[in-house]
Amino acid sequence: MATQDTAGTAAPIRLGIVLPTYNERGNVRSMVERLDAALAGIAWEVIVVDDNSPDGTADEARALAAQDRRVRVLQRIGRRGLSSAAIEGMCATSAPVVAVMDADHQHDPALLPEMLAAIEGGQYDLSYASRFAEGASTEAWGRPDRVKASGLANKLARKVTGVTLSDPMSGYFMLRTDALRKDAHRLSGVGFKILLDILATVDEPLRIKEFPMNFAARAEGESKLDQTVVFEFLVGLYDKWLGRFIPTRFALFGTVGALGVFVQMGTLFLVLHLLLGERFVYGHWTSNTTFNVANTLAAVVAMSFNFVLNNELTYSDKRLRGFAPLLRGWAKFAMTCSLGLLTNVGAAAALKAMGFHDFVAVIIGIVLGSVWNFALSSKFVWGR
Ligand code: GDD
Ligand code: MN
Repeated sequence: MATQDTAGTAAPIRLGIVLPTYNERGNVRSMVERLDAALAGIAWEVIVVDDNSPDGTADEARALAAQDRRVRVLQRIGRRGLSSAAIEGMCATSAPVVAVMDADHQHDPALLPEMLAAIEGGQYDLSYASRFAEGASTEAWGRPDRVKASGLANKLARKVTGVTLSDPMSGYFMLRTDALRKDAHRLSGVGFKILLDILATVDEPLRIKEFPMNFAARAEGESKLDQTVVFEFLVGLYDKWLGRFIPTRFALFGTVGALGVFVQMGTLFLVLHLLLGERFVYGHWTSNTTFNVANTLAAVVAMSFNFVLNNELTYSDKRLRGFAPLLRGWAKFAMTCSLGLLTNVGAAAALKAMGFHDFVAVIIGIVLGSVWNFALSSKFVWGR
């Protein structure tokens, strides 16, 4: 017969806790201590999912695991993301119920037993802690800016997904592991919005129990919620909302293109008016040659601006990096755009000749040119 050598292994495990971490070296040990105190009498394990943090969080977690078998470490290499880390952690536990919480002490582990009781009692499928429920507070957080932004994000999320919770952006929740595993392959895994993803993805309606929480200030280190996370959140919402009609990537490409129009106008104005001192009289610049040279320059600037923005945003997942790849990409993009321009102008000319209204012909030309640019650059500039 196998011997039971560690405290806790004799009783069947009841709860797995996933702690996604990125640069939380100073927080993991005290988090595990607090879990231990909060979960007296409950057999649990914690899974630290670390994305190879430069501060050595995984080493610290392994040092803990060496002393306490209830601590497990999942170190991911070459990957980043709170949501995907949470999903992988939740799939890695053998416990029937799994919780996800922040590792920086902003979530109070003292709520865990009540959250667990709600699920084990069979009345609820999911427990979550809300920063915005009746009786909750965010004052200790010490970030009024984030409270505001979070409120806005929650409102947007509720509108777009139809979820009605007071805090669908909460990072502190617990659910049956089998319910999660069944739909895990359909979760997006992008950004921070893991709970929202779960709620918007599972087919069966979940019975949800809300717990008001006092959202604390972060203990050590700093937040990892940056502009990229915000951008990805907005893109994700768009995708759910209008993505069926106009594909997200094309919408981004089109938006960047529209911004390019302003860049070209602005550059043209700057070059002519400010640098060359040309005078703007009744809608015409005085010299034709100067105008053409300046407009060519402005078009190249706008095109380059579009290239950079598309590389950063539209194709952020396939971003070109380094001088040579960027230069090559820029040259290919320039060629694509030239062909797109021919399509644009050519289509408009043909439509006009066929008797279409000038304005309609131009608009259709722009749409066709953009689709052409998009298709070509997807394949040749940012393709494999
Ligand atoms: N593995 C992994 N990879 N963990 C990550 C990553 C990542 O790329 N980014 C963040 N984390 C971990 C952090 O180490 C922390 O334990 C937890 O996820 C929350 O990250 P914070 O950086 O502390 O987020 P926050 O406090 O600014 O954001 C809070 O509000 C968000 C929504 O408004 C948190 O409560 C989030 O969970 C919540 O989604
Ligand atoms: Mn935090």
